[in-house]
Amino acid sequence: MSDFGESSTADDVLAGQDLSGKTVFITGGNSGLGRETGRAMAAKGAHVVLAGRDQEKLNAAVTAIKADHPEAQIESIICDLGALESVRACGKEARDRFDKIDVLINNAGVMATPKGATNDGLETQFGTNHIGHFLLTKHLMPLVEKGQDKRIVNLSSRGHHMAPVDLDDPNFENRDYNEWVSYGQSKTANILFTVGLEQRFGGKGIHAYAVHPGGIRTNLSRHLSEDQSKALISRVTKSDPGFSWKTIPQGAATQCWAATASELRDRGGVYCEDCHVAEVDETSSTGGVRSYALDSASADRLWSMSEQMVGESFTA
Ligand SMILES: NC(=O)c1ccc[n+]([C@@H]2O[C@H](COP(=O)([O-])OP(=O)(O)OC[C@H]3O[C@@H](n4cnc5c(N)ncnc54)[C@H](OP(=O)(O)O)[C@@H]3O)[C@@H](O)[C@H]2O)c1
Repeated sequence: MSDFGESSTADDVLAGQDLSGKTVFITGGNSGLGRETGRAMAAKGAHVVLAGRDQEKLNAAVTAIKADHPEAQIESIICDLGALESVRACGKEARDRFDKIDVLINNAGVMATPKGATNDGLETQFGTNHIGHFLLTKHLMPLVEKGQDKRIVNLSSRGHHMAPVDLDDPNFENRDYNEWVSYGQSKTANILFTVGLEQRFGGKGIHAYAVHPGGIRTNLSRHLSEDQSKALISRVTKSDPGFSWKTIPQGAATQCWAATASELRDRGGVYCEDCHVAEVDETSSTGGVRSYALDSASADRLWSMSEQMVGESFTA
């Protein structure tokens, strides 16, 4: 279904594409996969908006991309996904500054954080990785509705294999906190959100995709101690003896593919890895998507719960 695979890079996937006229909005755009996605898309003529929580880091990313591509149309906007007021302010500012968004890439994320809470009292990983993006997407939807070939790409992870969403206790109020169960839950929520978006907006020509980018050495591991890092690598290589790290350009490929591939034009609500749509698989540790992450009843429950948590409804 696609000519690309595990070793393809963002530039490979975008080769031959002309993205001029498209506006691409990327959260977590100052670092890792988000920054490389922004670079590769700006190099193909897209108007790129990098969102992040630190203006200095955003400025550094914009400057570095412009140094490589002086013609890049790239700018930045502040959005702290761990603070709902900041998300609302970002949505308002974006609606004032931009006419439309053709591609929204909900890429930012935190992994394996110690037990903690966002500004609004939500568990850090669920609150940042899912709820922050849920509210941001709601506030950017009026711009997405004005785009062409409208797509929303949500960065998930194979880490979703570690846990479904506990819809009765997403914030770990009645169970012991575990940083990997929490990360897995938040990455499953990214897929269920994709399913919920497709159910509500697919008919309006807005399609949503969840992506596992691969295993890539980025700042994502900043919360891991040396021992936790070793334990993670040993778990991954035991369960997937063929595992190898991707480079950042390879890691950014699947989100660039989901954002632009013509094969996906009228199809969404899917989970992609290695530049392909993944199959449902209940047991494999080397790929595939768990059925609990695509379950439409769970997607509906998560949607309603997310609306309650942000205190806003997200009408289609
Ligand atoms: N790398 C991998 O192996 C891997 C594997 C599977 C899935 N993923 C997913 O890929 C995505 C990108 O990760 P990456 O590897 O590129 O990691 P990264 O380099 O650490 O980038 C993460 C980005 O998210 C931003 N972010 C974190 N908390 C935020 C908040 N509260 N508000 C706004 N932005 C926030 C970070 O901003 P700051 O710089 O300000 O912290 C950074 O820009 C994540 O969703 C991750 O779960 C990565």
